[in-house]
Amino acid sequence: MKIITFLLVAFCSLSVSAQDRGVVVSQDKYASEVGAQVLRDGGTAVDAAVATAFALAVTHPLAGNIGGGGFLLTRDAGGASDFYDFRETGPKGSHPNMFLLNDKYDSDYHHYGHRSIGVPGTVAGLHLAWTERGKLPWARLIDPAIKLAREGFIISKPLANALERALPRFSKYPASIAQFSNYGKPLKEGERLIQSDLATTLERIAKHGPKDFYSGETAKLLVKEMKVGKGLITAKDLKNYKVIKRQPVMGTYRGFQVIGAPPPSSGGIAIIESLNVLEGYDINKMVWDSAPFVHHVSETLRRVFSERAKYLGDPGFVTDMPIERLISKEHAGRLRQTIQSDRASTSSPSQFEWPSESQETTHLSVVDRAGNVVSLTYTLELSFGSHIVVSGAGFLLNNEMGDFNAIPGNTASNGMIGTQPNLARQGKRMLSSMSPTILVKDGKPWLITGSPGGRTIISTTLLTILASIDFNFSAQEIVNAPRFHHQWLPDRIVWESHRFSPETKNFLSSLGHTLAEVSAQGCANIILFSDGRWEGGADTLRWADSATVWE
Ligand code: GLY
Repeated sequence: MKIITFLLVAFCSLSVSAQDRGVVVSQDKYASEVGAQVLRDGGTAVDAAVATAFALAVTHPLAGNIGGGGFLLTRDAGGASDFYDFRETGPKGSHPNMFLLNDKYDSDYHHYGHRSIGVPGTVAGLHLAWTERGKLPWARLIDPAIKLAREGFIISKPLANALERALPRFSKYPASIAQFSNYGKPLKEGERLIQSDLATTLERIAKHGPKDFYSGETAKLLVKEMKVGKGLITAKDLKNYKVIKRQPVMGTYRGFQVIGAPPPSSGGIAIIESLNVLEGYDINKMVWDSAPFVHHVSETLRRVFSERAKYLGDPGFVTDMPIERLISKEHAGRLRQTIQSDRASTSSPSQFEWPSESQETTHLSVVDRAGNVVSLTYTLELSFGSHIVVSGAGFLLNNEMGDFNAIPGNTASNGMIGTQPNLARQGKRMLSSMSPTILVKDGKPWLITGSPGGRTIISTTLLTILASIDFNFSAQEIVNAPRFHHQWLPDRIVWESHRFSPETKNFLSSLGHTLAEVSAQGCANIILFSDGRWEGGADTLRWADSATVWE
């Protein structure tokens, strides 16, 4: 079985180029194949993205979901772009001090348990995108996911490892342990994972659409789960959930058009702001894994992340975000003047600091034969979200409330952030870093990109853009390139240090940077238009199940 799995991954992951065929790149080989089959059957890029996303909810339960939320960015062949915001919202009773337990901040209370669950948006978001841009029947898009859940699929090594790591948290919830273990023992690589309750839920969604999830049988089961676990989500919260269509945030970089994610994502603004700063440097004369490149990008990110915390939140609640200023070339010029080429700046701990990052969330990219493209990032927040499977409904719930700031006014060096724009409120969307992005060159899509990784999503996505434009890398070289991240505070470069030379390390240290190692950053599954052809770049280096599959 191992050999067959290996061959399948190797086959699916090849970056085959083709001129006319559509392509799907996602974090899972089963899901990419589901999307590619939709394209073969005449579906649009949105059809394929929806089918891939439902399949991921079965085969990549770390982040694929129907119990979470996300952002779907489209660009039609004709040039129009749309952004579907299906981010979770704070349920009834959400308030800025809700993460205090007996007047003390409790990280587990913030990030786990039934109170950490936001009102899910995924089913409504995928449905609205399909309603407006789909061609194949809704049920046709969910059928493959139902089959994968009902008949099961073979567990890969990365998934087996992730399930084993999650076992202690699953074990608190009977429905979770029943679904994701073998009577409390870890499921093994090569075993079949069958999810019957999830299959039944997906069948209802296929038949009744979002109505089932937000006011039907699934809604009833979810509300019951909340009552049992003392969660906050009510039947009314579910009924009132709304997808919001927004104008993507737009910028330019060296003549390319950049189409990014607007608030409540910080991604589009942070990426465009960073690109504007970096446009002032001869990046193409730098070497990717050299100290000057890492230094200039890190110094840029340091500044951009401080502004992210200061200004950004849900536009439904934060009405004074200076977006135009943040993404202007003039502002970037001023920021650039504060960067020294031969010295690291310091970030003041009295300003902003962030808790450590989850590497979860998942990103997929799709292009169809007509040239419509989709960049979709969605999430349960941490790996497997809250780890809570809805009893009788078989799907995992998010822990997205953890993306709200912890305590109002409490911004300290221990990792707390308490700035106003991202405090919890009922009906409010928590600030996100998810950055589905599309680059356009001469009126045609050039790069479809995005990544998981909490705040590192912004750095990873930025790096894929620089790799494509300044370094002229192929799709596979773009995703393979070593990565790094800076987020203002903690004041350090977090990087895949084993991929950089001792000289680079010493040089960065001599500039005054603190360096922290991470084994892998993100999982960018991208599509690049190169030499007149689409090229898929699957990030198998960081998640072996990632796969490019052609129509
Ligand atoms: N939960 C990850 C993000 O939204 O940025």
